Amino acid sequence: MTQERRPQAPDQVRAMVSEGYARVVEARGAEDAQRAREMGARLGYSEDQLDAAPEGANLGVGCGNPTAIDTLQPGETVVDLGSGAGFDAFLAARQVGPTGRVVGVDMTDAMLEKARENAQNAGIENVEFRKGQIEALPLEDESVDAIISNCVINLSPEKDRVYGEAWRVLRPGGRIMVSDIVLDRPLPAAVLDSIDAYLGCVGGASLRGEYLETIAKAGFSEVRVDREARFAQALDLDDPRIRELMERLEISEDEAKHYADAIVSLHVFARK
Ligand SMILES: C[S@@+](CC[C@H](N)C(=O)[O-])C[C@H]1O[C@@H](n2cnc3c(N)ncnc32)[C@H](O)[C@@H]1O
Repeated sequence: MTQERRPQAPDQVRAMVSEGYARVVEARGAEDAQRAREMGARLGYSEDQLDAAPEGANLGVGCGNPTAIDTLQPGETVVDLGSGAGFDAFLAARQVGPTGRVVGVDMTDAMLEKARENAQNAGIENVEFRKGQIEALPLEDESVDAIISNCVINLSPEKDRVYGEAWRVLRPGGRIMVSDIVLDRPLPAAVLDSIDAYLGCVGGASLRGEYLETIAKAGFSEVRVDREARFAQALDLDDPRIRELMERLEISEDEAKHYADAIVSLHVFARK
């Protein structure tokens, strides 16, 4: 657990996020795989999807996007923003089939290495992982049918640039189907300043209205929330990491429940 306050400058925030997620992928053990599987089931992934993803691809760090993946069509070109170890990218690759293509974009070398290793071990050929920031996508204009993303855009200090880039790379009629964290009311400064809360996909989350407005401002239409779940429902106050964070931020159980009630996982759809 880190005690310092998080940086504010966008490049420093990205560096902090990248270091944090490199640690996540490097520290994975067998126990984490089981926890990630249980979390995946809770988020709505089917047994079939959990079985289909190559071993080590599901890090249990998403907030759930299986219904979006189910709507992808054979032959489509799909981009996964912040693809991590490749969990959703591999499921999307299965959905778009051999005539389709999936590009996972991530800025963290350790994640890219793990995702590429997973693809190679599983012999999945219609997926590639490119290094890049989601604020400056390594993709051509109007080259993509659908963008998916699972619990990543909240980590960006420049969400307007992310949605601007999504608009640029999508073909007209293309869609974004992302799962992300938003807030229904502001969280206290101690949480917003915390590196752990930021890496835990909470500290960088926007207010719901602002988030949806950012998407509309980038030019998208049909902006809608397809599903949502309150973080409070999933909050496990017995989880030692949550207890440690609460202790350090001097937050009581009641306060933790109150703040958790403001944190929402959304499935957002929008069309170019
Ligand atoms: C919470 S994890 C989610 C990984 C994956 N989507 C999943 O569900 O397993 C966040 C991932 O996004 C990547 N990421 C965060 N901010 C990013 C940015 N600005 N540009 C590119 N990748 C980013 C991190 O490196 C990490 O792999």
